[in-house]
Amino acid sequence: MSLPSSVGEWVRQQAPAGVSLTAMLIARARAEESDREDALFRDPLAGGFLDAAGLPDGLDRVNDFGGPNFVLRTRYFDDQLLDAAEAGCRQVVLLAAGLDTRAFRLPWPDGTRLFELDLPELLSFKERVIAESEAAPACERAVVRADLRDDWSVPLLDAGFQPNEPTAWLAEGLLMFLRPEDNDRLLARIGSLSPPGSRLALEHVNRAFHQSPDMRAVHRRFALIQASWYATVEDPRAWLAGHGWRARVQPGEDLARRLGRPVPRVYDPEHLGSGRIWLVSAQRATD
Ligand SMILES: C[S@@+](CC[C@H](N)C(=O)[O-])C[C@H]1O[C@@H](n2cnc3c(N)ncnc32)[C@H](O)[C@@H]1O
Repeated sequence: MSLPSSVGEWVRQQAPAGVSLTAMLIARARAEESDREDALFRDPLAGGFLDAAGLPDGLDRVNDFGGPNFVLRTRYFDDQLLDAAEAGCRQVVLLAAGLDTRAFRLPWPDGTRLFELDLPELLSFKERVIAESEAAPACERAVVRADLRDDWSVPLLDAGFQPNEPTAWLAEGLLMFLRPEDNDRLLARIGSLSPPGSRLALEHVNRAFHQSPDMRAVHRRFALIQASWYATVEDPRAWLAGHGWRARVQPGEDLARRLGRPVPRVYDPEHLGSGRIWLVSAQRATD
């Protein structure tokens, strides 16, 4: 694998590095999906991120296994966020937004305010590419530079977030990269900013998925870019209930079938045994 020298080149280009480089993998999957005639979504900006920085040699092999999840979960979370908007959430917070362009490509109701949180370097790169594209957001969009292991509520409030308004939160492709105690703090903070009517959608994995043979090559590549996984969860419904959310888990194989796609290995219980990617949507419990 020629990854380490290429990563040096990436850093010199001021492109995303370390864990932020994983956002480029998602952009890659979204750009490829957008080219399909039967695309589940169209993300015209995704290709621009890749043109601006590309990917280190060999890293894109991660998408051989993970790519179908990146595509299917994107559509799943698109639908969850639009449902939340329809149910009255006019505030949306994308935690670890990465190169997510939902602010630009989803049909938000008037008055929607969307906040994107991620590490400063990733957001600097993203804003540079978006400025060059001259794309216009379909909502009011704010970018918040924050480390989600710290108290990100302060910069979020400074950016105009209203803690008394129902909010749709998304944590996609994030929780496995944080430590379990950081995730508990993250959920506690989300809860303290979520009045009744709020929604939360997230992705996580269980230990058996983390340890599955298919993931070994992925972990080796992630270790080279300092993007190791630290957290798993065995029972996401119970975990979320403990933080005041009523959660529903969407089985990946059902999602693939519903969207008219073959069940990929990354979702297939026959292939993975007890390994699971959790796709979860939750409502703020009222009692
Ligand atoms: C796999 S990408 C997912 C990006 C986006 N949610 C998506 O699905 O397109 C992981 C993202 O998590 C961000 N991230 C990882 N650790 C973080 C931290 N401690 N604070 C803020 N962002 C973090 C990275 O910068 C990267 O953009």
